[in-house]
Amino acid sequence: MFHLQKATQVTSDDELGQLAELYRYPPRPSSGPGAAAPFVRANMVASIDGAVTYDGKSGGLGGPGDRAVFRVLRGLADVILVGAGTATTEGYGRPQADEALAAHRESLGQAPAPALALVSRSLSIPPDFEPVADPGTVVLTCTSAPADRRRALLDAGATLVDCGDDTVSTMAILDHCADRGWSRVLCEGGPSLLGSLVTADALDELCLTTSPHLVGGDAGRIVATGGSGSGEPSAVLHALRPASILTDDDGFVFTRWLRHGRASTM
Ligand SMILES: NC(=O)c1ccc[n+]([C@@H]2O[C@H](COP(=O)([O-])OP(=O)(O)OC[C@H]3O[C@@H](n4cnc5c(N)ncnc54)[C@H](OP(=O)(O)O)[C@@H]3O)[C@@H](O)[C@H]2O)c1
Repeated sequence: MFHLQKATQVTSDDELGQLAELYRYPPRPSSGPGAAAPFVRANMVASIDGAVTYDGKSGGLGGPGDRAVFRVLRGLADVILVGAGTATTEGYGRPQADEALAAHRESLGQAPAPALALVSRSLSIPPDFEPVADPGTVVLTCTSAPADRRRALLDAGATLVDCGDDTVSTMAILDHCADRGWSRVLCEGGPSLLGSLVTADALDELCLTTSPHLVGGDAGRIVATGGSGSGEPSAVLHALRPASILTDDDGFVFTRWLRHGRASTM
């Protein structure tokens, strides 16, 4: 009934290769309904009491081990999928090629750096937001997005893709990823976008860092559902199973949770 998981120390970049092996995406089925579907992984950090932010950002909850896992997960992904609000709040730049994982990516036929997909219903992204004009960035939106914001982003060099009419459809997002050959999707949040993935039953794996802090306050949780205008239910019950648990010298705990029926890479 109970299983004891041996903790593994994750302390520095030296363990990157080991981490990359542990977090390797599972092989895609060669045939059947799952063959074309991207594997959707999310990476989030929360405090012991479940807060996703401290002082408005997630960075205050991080540490060296967390940053190593974050880096490796980016290094394994074809595309980073992120809510526009998170990308701007957290000051995202364009994803960079990571020399330490270059050989791994090349062996899998991946581009040197992951693409970036910003999800936004209202297109409230500043046109001068640095990643917008990058050819590796796509903004996933819907046809009802305000025309003036659409125009401003296009003028700034953005690539916009409509994934629905009144809302950004999660399934249309994943179809676009499949069309672009992005089979390894990494969602970095935020909670609203993760909520949409969970509600659509599109999440295959959750990588969750528990930061060794209590935060209190009114910070949100990692999954937010039922946002206004989303048409989503206010709560979901989505079962996952544990795949691995790591700790580091700073007291962080790194868990991986898989959808039932998904093969673990361990
Ligand atoms: N602890 C962590 O691991 C973690 C990770 C990420 C973010 N965060 C924190 O979470 C906070 C932001 O929370 P949030 O829930 O507002 O973040 P979010 O999921 O990034 O949502 C923010 C915005 O992204 C767009 N968006 C998200 N999901 C969408 C969907 N399904 N369809 C269309 N647009 C969508 C919307 O942009 P428009 O308004 O433009 O339509 C939305 O207002 C920030 O403080 C951030 O620092 C924490």
